[in-house]
Amino acid sequence: MIIDTHCHLNDEVFDEDRVAIIEELSKNNIQSAFVVGTNFETCKSAIELATRYQNLYAIVGMYPEYCEQYDNEFERFLESILSNPKVVAVGEIGLDFHYEGYNQALQEEIFAKQIRLAKKYDLPISIHTRDAFDRTIKVLKDNKEFLNGGVIHCFSGSPEIAKEFIKLGFKLGFGGVCTFKNARKVVDTLSVIDTKDILLETDAPYLAPTPHRGKRNEPKYTNLVLDKIAEIRGESKEKLEEQILLNTLNTFKRFKI
Ligand code: NI
Repeated sequence: MIIDTHCHLNDEVFDEDRVAIIEELSKNNIQSAFVVGTNFETCKSAIELATRYQNLYAIVGMYPEYCEQYDNEFERFLESILSNPKVVAVGEIGLDFHYEGYNQALQEEIFAKQIRLAKKYDLPISIHTRDAFDRTIKVLKDNKEFLNGGVIHCFSGSPEIAKEFIKLGFKLGFGGVCTFKNARKVVDTLSVIDTKDILLETDAPYLAPTPHRGKRNEPKYTNLVLDKIAEIRGESKEKLEEQILLNTLNTFKRFKI
């Protein structure tokens, strides 16, 4: 039983066949998928999907690159949905210093605000961090008393960075990137961390695993990620699947099977 802990089934690229994909999840051994919102519109559609389909859950928050859209109105909206039993985390939130012109101070402020909101509603967080490991760790440490676990989504860092996040109580989410030929760092990390620190995800429609690289990603490809992790670690797929399911239940407390 596999859970895709991070996908964007609310993305418009799924408009044509979303229902078919959702209805076929269990046929592909995907018990549930967590649909992630990144701003007002996509948080709303994530909630709508999670409300309509028993096998979908929602993760809601303001994505770092959209931090300017985080105003009082958005915060009120967020607070109005965080008690929803199908909301399993606040996310994806964090820091992204990849593109020029990013507003570091505002990103850090909005990240910290949402960390505190998650704590208020007893939720974990799903973190997006790109070109910003040091500052992400800094914000987390500065808000230590508000941390309530969660996941570093699409983790791509070294074993040393992995250890820092694990020490702060986070799991690491792995997706299609670990199947890429040039994924040396991720493979190194996956070879040394404890099985209890691993979560599975796709980030669909992005980052499709080999052999679908460059095409639209789908939650069912979480199976390919699990295969690859089992291969890298030399572990049985069944045991790995069982432990990762436990990790998912331990991290996202509102998620039930
Ligand atoms: Ni994402």
